[in-house]
Amino acid sequence: MSVASDVIPLAQPVLGEAEEAAVLDVLRSGQLSLGPRVPAFEAAFAARLGVSHASAVSSGTAGLHLGLRAIGVEPGDEVITSPFSFVASANVVLYEGARPVFADIDPRTLNLDPAAAAAAITGRTRALLPVHIFGYPADLPALEAHGLPIVEDACEALGARHADGTPVGGRGHPAAFGFYANKQLTTGEGGMLTMGSAEHKARVDSERNQGRAPDMGWLDHDRLGFNYRLTDLQCAIGLAQLERLDGMLADRARVAASYREALAGLEGVELPCEDAGGDVRGWFVFVVQLPRGTDGAATIAALRERGVQSKPYLPAIHLMSFYRERYGHRPGEFPVCEDVAERSLALPFFPAMTEGQVRRVAEALGHVLRH
Ligand SMILES: Cc1ncc(COP(=O)(O)O)c(C=O)c1O
Repeated sequence: MSVASDVIPLAQPVLGEAEEAAVLDVLRSGQLSLGPRVPAFEAAFAARLGVSHASAVSSGTAGLHLGLRAIGVEPGDEVITSPFSFVASANVVLYEGARPVFADIDPRTLNLDPAAAAAAITGRTRALLPVHIFGYPADLPALEAHGLPIVEDACEALGARHADGTPVGGRGHPAAFGFYANKQLTTGEGGMLTMGSAEHKARVDSERNQGRAPDMGWLDHDRLGFNYRLTDLQCAIGLAQLERLDGMLADRARVAASYREALAGLEGVELPCEDAGGDVRGWFVFVVQLPRGTDGAATIAALRERGVQSKPYLPAIHLMSFYRERYGHRPGEFPVCEDVAERSLALPFFPAMTEGQVRRVAEALGHVLRH
């Protein structure tokens, strides 16, 4: 993420002395992995979300994968999910030999449309995998009504809340968070799976560590597992980041409010939906939808020339070549998703962003769209 000083980057983590000291402590302790920071980070994270269990894992993807295994997804099963997401939320279904069945999204929230999801349920549907895209809570109450197991992709949604006050990831379904460097909380790479079931927690903890239960001998394994561990170095950074999370979330919300003001006059540019009905977004990215017919690639190139990083975010998963070839997906299947995906542009967005930088981005975008 190193860029020239006058270029406004897409994302920038907040890291300081607390993280440095935490890492040094671990280095000096000599216990770099499988040490005490792992359960400490898990306990602090679970407490923050008011959920019974949390398991630290090496990535959000690893969390989603183990979440699907925990609820018993098997080869041949169908898992209903959103085509408007980062590709990992569909890929994890394939890891288990199951089929990701896409359903269209709601044009306001950009999350799985509950009616479309309901229409996609068949006798083979084993689970629902909603994504809280861009940190906006998916309509879990509507999805829960089907009584099917749910695994939540909360990778972008730390800090979000449902209308009833429950934090996203705190409803008891396995819910995966991601800690890549652009996320609300970062450990470089990393993730956390939160869940309400002690049985799920035991299975996840074993499977992230090559299939070894905590009370088993060093090289004894009683099930298939993976190396999905998060190191003590990363957990120490995570603990320091948790301490400053409220401040970072408030800063993201402040930057989002500045963007709303600065972009208000840009005709045809659609902004992220406002919180409604009691749902609260945990701000992750600031993604606008360009007016229909705008050349996205040319817009990105022209913004770059003006010192502003941006990127198309996100492309529709079902139209990626791998998914097209494997399942024969074609344009037109999920029209809301395709329209949104074609026009979505992520603008620079990070807690330390100044009002001046927001204004510069807004002016650059206005200029580029007018010319
Ligand atoms: C919606 C969504 N799902 C899954 C992931 C995967 O997380 P990770 O990169 O930590 O594996 C991400 C991360 O970018 C994401 O944004």
